[in-house]
Amino acid sequence: MRFDIFTLFPEVFTPYLESSILKRAISNHLLEVSLHNIRDWAADKHHTTDDTPYGGGGGMVMKPEPVFASFEAALGEEPKFPRILLTPQGRPFTHAIARDLSRETRIALLCGHYEGFDERIREHLVTDEISIGDYVLTGGELAAMILVDSISRFLPGVLGDPEGAIDDSFASGLLEYPQYTRPEEFRGWKVPDVLLSGNHAAIQKWRREQALARTLLRRPDLLGNLELSKADRKYLDSLSADDSPAERNSK
Ligand code: ADE
Repeated sequence: MRFDIFTLFPEVFTPYLESSILKRAISNHLLEVSLHNIRDWAADKHHTTDDTPYGGGGGMVMKPEPVFASFEAALGEEPKFPRILLTPQGRPFTHAIARDLSRETRIALLCGHYEGFDERIREHLVTDEISIGDYVLTGGELAAMILVDSISRFLPGVLGDPEGAIDDSFASGLLEYPQYTRPEEFRGWKVPDVLLSGNHAAIQKWRREQALARTLLRRPDLLGNLELSKADRKYLDSLSADDSPAERNSK
């Protein structure tokens, strides 16, 4: 999978790409990230990439010419792969979008700065617009890095554990169940007995119930989209808002 990132600040990506899992994915040739500085494609001697908006008003707008020129130089005229603008006006990013995008072989990401983009970039250059949340960042770089990171986790071989992306929070549509590791007791707080029991069926049941309880408590909106089994429904019905042990555990 290859990402082409178009930005005014290519240097901000490097430390993250040179650390941990993404670093390993790049050196194992599972992932390639090409950084393109839009400013290199500004035609005037001051390398201007923004200008005041037609019609007046405050703020600056990203000019179309350097953005189009940088895309055309790196990608050719008519690339068939997704060209995504990072913007708070885009469709909300989710686990499912990350998984779908991980099936592409190449993705271009465009990071904005200033108050916005010339609308012709939206209309004639990008194929998609994505937001990472209902808040405004100073630029699209962090949002682009979040896409690269979350999409890369789905690429075969990127996570040490091939089940990693399957067991995630959201993969099942539920938040993830609580996890514990050694020691068995820490400052008087014990690991739940069932996890030490060696009884796989009981462990599976406990994890499922914990995931259901946690999702009901923290993200009840997610439950509406799910196909739940009879046992799931029965368990959820048994939880009263405040006093079940599962609810207490997950606080
Ligand atoms: N650029 C600025 N804010 C953003 C957001 N919330 N999502 C994606 N790109 C952005």
